Amino acid sequence: MTAIRFGIRGTGSWAPDKRLTNADLSAMVDTSDEWIVQRTGIKERRILPPELTTSDMCVQAAQRALDDAGLAATDIDLIVLGTVTPDQQVPATSCKVAQRLGCESTPAFDLAAGCSGFVYASSVAAQFLRAGTYRNVLVIGAEALSRITNYNDRTSCILFGDAAGAVVYSTDFEYGELLSSSMQADGNGYDVMYQRAGGAQRPLSAERLAAAEHKLVIHGREVYRFAVSRMVELVKGEQANNPGLTLGAVVPHQVNLRILESAREKLGLASDRLYTNIDRYGNTSAASVPVALDEARRGGFFHDLDGQLVVMCAFGAGLTWGSVALKW
Ligand SMILES: CC(C)(COP(=O)(O)OP(=O)(O)OC[C@H]1O[C@@H](n2cnc3c(N)ncnc32)[C@H](O)[C@@H]1OP(=O)(O)O)[C@@H](O)C(=O)NCCC(=O)NCCS
Repeated sequence: MTAIRFGIRGTGSWAPDKRLTNADLSAMVDTSDEWIVQRTGIKERRILPPELTTSDMCVQAAQRALDDAGLAATDIDLIVLGTVTPDQQVPATSCKVAQRLGCESTPAFDLAAGCSGFVYASSVAAQFLRAGTYRNVLVIGAEALSRITNYNDRTSCILFGDAAGAVVYSTDFEYGELLSSSMQADGNGYDVMYQRAGGAQRPLSAERLAAAEHKLVIHGREVYRFAVSRMVELVKGEQANNPGLTLGAVVPHQVNLRILESAREKLGLASDRLYTNIDRYGNTSAASVPVALDEARRGGFFHDLDGQLVVMCAFGAGLTWGSVALKW
């Protein structure tokens, strides 16, 4: 039996106009542009206005991906949304997105894998495409991280921004044939990044809200060590999965420029083969890889990579990590 082949048919992304610069943050907490740029590479991030929410960003990014793919919402067989900032805990934000795009009875669900949300969702999509169950799957990564960022905590508030990115994977694809993918998790790192209250373990109360227990807490140094080693492992893993191909580019989760540079050096990858846009968006968790992919593609980053391997990789809360290998 011939294996079913599939890849990317369209990409799209969207971010709010409002920019939160390092100078703005310096007026809010004890930090400086110099410290933030040196330690993270971030210059500004996008912040969602109060009247908009995660589903609004998803609809914008998804519609751009559908337009790019030349498909109607009714052509989509499945929607998977990677996010840790859904509009509400119940029901799934993806159902609202499906309805607003004009889908009819299309299955849709949210997937929470922290910053790995988009690559995890891509792996899920790949299973349905490879099995022949579906022909067109819309995968979205979107976060309104500003809604759960503690702007009194200088160790975390400098990192996060809001955005959404989307990819239509299809058996009738244009480029980026999806060859392999991976997903992994290690709950020993459950306490490295978390929201203390707001779930079943510690429901919200007035006291917990006042103590900002619904805001994100991160242990940055632990993430740092974990992210460098995982990124190297993930890229090497996809190279091993696809031995005949030259590694053309890596589109990583935009976690911190120093982390990305350190992994790039360990991989022996040329600097112009690693796509980064963290300076303009900060860390947008599940949105970061699809936003980077969309920008890179529209900007011509992949123009000379025909037939080469492009690896998307991410790592985040859980701890989770995962990758997707594409033949461009
Ligand atoms: C958060 C992060 C930028 C911190 O950088 P770092 O080099 O590890 O810095 P450290 O935490 O070791 O802190 C160094 C010093 O800077 C201080 N500091 C922390 N945040 C600061 C800020 N915004 N401005 C100025 N100083 C700051 C610390 O208090 C510490 O001071 P001390 O030495 O007097 O104790 C970095 O660890 C990181 O990016 N980690 C990844 C986090 C992430 O993105 N997680 C999201 C999920 S993937």
